[in-house]
Amino acid sequence: MGLAYPRKVDLAHTPTPLQYLERASSKWGCGHRLWVKRDDLTGSTLSGNKVRKLEFIAAHAIDNGYDTLITCGGLQSNHCRATAFVGAQLELAVHLLLRGEEPPERDGNLLLGHLAGATVNCYPTGQYVSEIGDLFRHWQAHYAERGRKALAIPTGGSDGVGVWGYIAACEELAADFHTAAIEQAHIVTATGSGGTQAGLTLGTALHQLPATVWGVNVCDDEQYFLHKVASDTADWKARYPDVPSVTVQPRVLDGYVGQGYGIAGADVFALIAQLSRLEGLVLDPVYTGKAFAGMVAEIAAGRFEGCRDIVFVHTGGIFGLFPQRAGFNC
Ligand SMILES: Cc1ncc(COP(=O)(O)O)c(C=O)c1O
Repeated sequence: MGLAYPRKVDLAHTPTPLQYLERASSKWGCGHRLWVKRDDLTGSTLSGNKVRKLEFIAAHAIDNGYDTLITCGGLQSNHCRATAFVGAQLELAVHLLLRGEEPPERDGNLLLGHLAGATVNCYPTGQYVSEIGDLFRHWQAHYAERGRKALAIPTGGSDGVGVWGYIAACEELAADFHTAAIEQAHIVTATGSGGTQAGLTLGTALHQLPATVWGVNVCDDEQYFLHKVASDTADWKARYPDVPSVTVQPRVLDGYVGQGYGIAGADVFALIAQLSRLEGLVLDPVYTGKAFAGMVAEIAAGRFEGCRDIVFVHTGGIFGLFPQRAGFNC
């Protein structure tokens, strides 16, 4: 479909490879072929799924005269780290509003965000949850008083602008499917703020990709993500009224959050270690590890029966692994 994409800034190293996991297919595939879309390879410090969204968000910021990006997330937010590096690359100031007390030692994404020169404020969880809207407004006003213009980017860059990233990625996947002779597939991704899932779900419909998209939620629940994907889609339609009309049906694989966001069970840590050794592929305990565990469990339960190919989107997140080193027995 000839889609009129808004401008983007080229930041991601794309197309990323679609890699066949031969040994993982034998071990967990139950007859399916398991593939991984290597979006962990969109870059180095500026890597993972967020970069695809930020390419469009950064262009939107520059084209509308913003000189500062304000965004928010957990202390180990991959999105915040990626935004910090986008700012450093494009000479935009970045201000991160993080959930949680500043730890005595900076590690993983938090360390990298500081290295990239972002201004960082940490807020206790209760205050963050109840006041995040006010905090955005406070800091936007702060910059406005100084003659600056700050763009508020929501959690995970998940809004009607950010979803373009994975709408575009579906064009890449269409080419991947052709090369790999994939006629029909299930696509599985971790879902945390919903934008990747929304983009993939919209993109498969817009590009008529023969695939069903599933989000494995790493926080909240099925209802939350059904609503979030629908609201990101509505925001996209409102911002770009000329886009073709498509109906999307989000699908969520709920039941793999475990004890909560960012808390992985021993089974997830064990799976990460197994896959690292089996295929040389490293997942993280917050997003991709839980999503991969969910996919393996759903395969075993027969969820994808009748369809040979399953594509796991590796959305990155490796820096979030280091602050959780205590979970590994190695
Ligand atoms: C590594 C990683 N994977 C997956 C996700 C989920 O993507 P989304 O926020 O678009 O739902 C995130 C961020 O939330 C992430 O950092």
